[in-house]
Amino acid sequence: MKKIIAITRGDGCGPEVVNEGIKILMIVSEFTDNEFEFKDAPAGGEVWKKYGSNLPEQSFNTIKQSDALLFGAIGLPDLQPGVAESAILKIRQGLDLYVNLRPIKLYNILREICPLKDEFIGDGIDITFVRENTEGLYKNIGKLEEDSAENLMLYTREGCERIIKYAFEFAKRKGHGKVTSVDKANILKPSQLWRKIFHEIAQNYSDLEIEDIYIDAFCQWLIRAPFKFQTVVTGNMFGDIISDEAAFLIGSLGMASSGNIHPGKVSMYEPIHGSAPDIAGKGIANPIGTILSVKLMMEESFNSPDLGNEIDNAVEEALSEGRTVDIRSRSLKTLSTLEMGDLIASKLKNRLKT
Ligand code: IPM
Ligand code: MN
Repeated sequence: MKKIIAITRGDGCGPEVVNEGIKILMIVSEFTDNEFEFKDAPAGGEVWKKYGSNLPEQSFNTIKQSDALLFGAIGLPDLQPGVAESAILKIRQGLDLYVNLRPIKLYNILREICPLKDEFIGDGIDITFVRENTEGLYKNIGKLEEDSAENLMLYTREGCERIIKYAFEFAKRKGHGKVTSVDKANILKPSQLWRKIFHEIAQNYSDLEIEDIYIDAFCQWLIRAPFKFQTVVTGNMFGDIISDEAAFLIGSLGMASSGNIHPGKVSMYEPIHGSAPDIAGKGIANPIGTILSVKLMMEESFNSPDLGNEIDNAVEEALSEGRTVDIRSRSLKTLSTLEMGDLIASKLKNRLKT
């Protein structure tokens, strides 16, 4: 069946990495029964400069009418912070994308460039962050005045329940043994509600081990013993911060992928690195974060875990032959964004052909 995929290239290195994501989707459509139609949905800073809106209505309509959205990155250094980026929040809120799924897997072959000493890597790093994506400080109920400013950290029972349930179901589906909840229940009221609901829901999953950790301690454990974690569920702001910390463990922020998901509805897949103005236009950005976001799209929106696996394996194979500069190895060829995408596409082609 034909699937419509909305495409937001965005700003900075966004267009460069999205091209490589599309390349992978084309291979998938060529060698499997999937058929894709791409529809542009421009958003971000450049679009804001042109039309005075970072998410023109037409783009949002295109997104709403598609089966999934592949999103590059938005943000420009010459705009005030937030002017471009708020489009992301409009999409998350507008489509009620309450799950932000952020897998952090260290490929074995990249162990050497992980900043942690080998003993701290242990058996390996394979964590999935399940970040609440519509509530908390991001609900944007706030005001900025001359001498004071405020945001409200608002969580609802419904909002906590649905994300925590999702995390348990995710852990079950992936065969994880444990779900870790990260909060600040020693101080924050919303965390106290969160923790209560976490324990209520855990009762329905008695075969899964559970654990609560305060956010500050978790940040330590994440670099001290990352192998301890599998599924980690947390609120919006904490999830934003720890997923960047975690992304560093897999070699480069450029490797990190994400899905903004509402199960069964149109969802958005994006690398987490942002528009990276310092390297934009140079053709050196790492496209793997985007390619792994396409993998997530196959798994979470198109119910094709096997295809997701093939993409994952293609990436791993490619990493033993060549790499972009952010993860370069002296013994391997350093590749451009386009070459890295080509190499992964050719690996995927070989895997799907046979
Ligand atoms: C992310 C980003 C966004 C966030 C910004 C750009 C709105 O940092 O996706 O992690 O804070 O969620
Ligand atoms: Mn972030």
